[in-house]
Amino acid sequence: MALGESLFERAARGEVVERVPVWAMRQAGRWDPAFRELRAGRDFYEFSENPELAARASLCPLRFGVDAIILFYDITTLAIAMGQSFRLEPQRGPVPDRPIRGIDDVRRLAEHPDPEAYRAVLEALRLTRRATPANIPVLVFAGAPFTLATYQVGLGKRIDEVRAFMQDQPAAWNSLLEKTASATIDFLRSLLAEGAAAYQLFDSWAGDLRPDEYERHAQAFHEQIFGEVGGLSILFVKDGPNLSRMAQSGARVISLGTRHDLAEARRLWPGLTFQGNVDHQILVHGDAAKVTAATKACLAAGGGRRHILNLDHGMDRAARPELFEAFVNTATTG
Ligand code: CP3
Repeated sequence: MALGESLFERAARGEVVERVPVWAMRQAGRWDPAFRELRAGRDFYEFSENPELAARASLCPLRFGVDAIILFYDITTLAIAMGQSFRLEPQRGPVPDRPIRGIDDVRRLAEHPDPEAYRAVLEALRLTRRATPANIPVLVFAGAPFTLATYQVGLGKRIDEVRAFMQDQPAAWNSLLEKTASATIDFLRSLLAEGAAAYQLFDSWAGDLRPDEYERHAQAFHEQIFGEVGGLSILFVKDGPNLSRMAQSGARVISLGTRHDLAEARRLWPGLTFQGNVDHQILVHGDAAKVTAATKACLAAGGGRRHILNLDHGMDRAARPELFEAFVNTATTG
């Protein structure tokens, strides 16, 4: 198959397709017994920085019949390549060994990291592509500068503390976002050059920003990154309230949460493609009949075009494999 011809890519570009493609965020993860077996209690970064294991993790969801694979690493992988080390704390998520505290710490980070510093991701991509059928694209991703910076300063989604940092250390904060944006552009370009079909920018915590803050710390960087990287792009903001700003980010595909109506979004932005937006909780608390009904309703709302079936956000670790199967099967076999 020619490059760019997969069902996923054709749907993302807005072409008429024979059916709507399906995949899920965090589809390679702890909800899946095959993933847990592979992970075998290994440290998260040791596991994700091993190209063979990362490739095998990425491939786990193939057996469910998904239409795209997302490469296994983490948004903090790029921060590590920029020069900061991280560990994963069970209740908190990724935590830096030395959080950014001021401008001197930002100066030490690489704005243009040597690709050698993320060689493991490039190698995992090569291995994953080699093992993936030609009609299944491999997607890559990056954290948007705002969301990645929340981890670089050691706070994650604790928005009030992040806001305090932004106000107390404006020079360090702005420089951190700018450097991270440059590194992200290099990183995504290298992955696209290595054969990734599309990329998703995760600004997971930007939905908690006020409109003026969102404009400066999120939107400006989305526009810069999508403008400079080009290619097939997806924007995700968890529960992102400001859909019209997201629609103006330059992304070709907008990931939609459950607070927005898919049919309405399709009507308002006929030139964009939307991804989503089945409630991820239904894969935890529902049953096969409920999953099938919710998936069919979502497919109907999408109208069969410019739609990529997905959840509202990442799969929960308590999601049930048989319900993920029902979700995928409803899309692929009706
Ligand atoms: O989607 C996929 O299947 C690809 C892999 C992927 C991971 N992280 C692996 C991972 C992706 C796309 C991410 C993105 C990511 N990482 C985001 C944006 C998406 C979102 O959830 O909004 C964010 C905010 C992070 C930061 C992060 N990494 C957190 C908050 C955690 C802890 C989560 C938890 O449930 O404990 C991680 C670690 C992490 N990255 C896990 C996975 C599968 C879980 C940890 C583990 O396997 O032990």
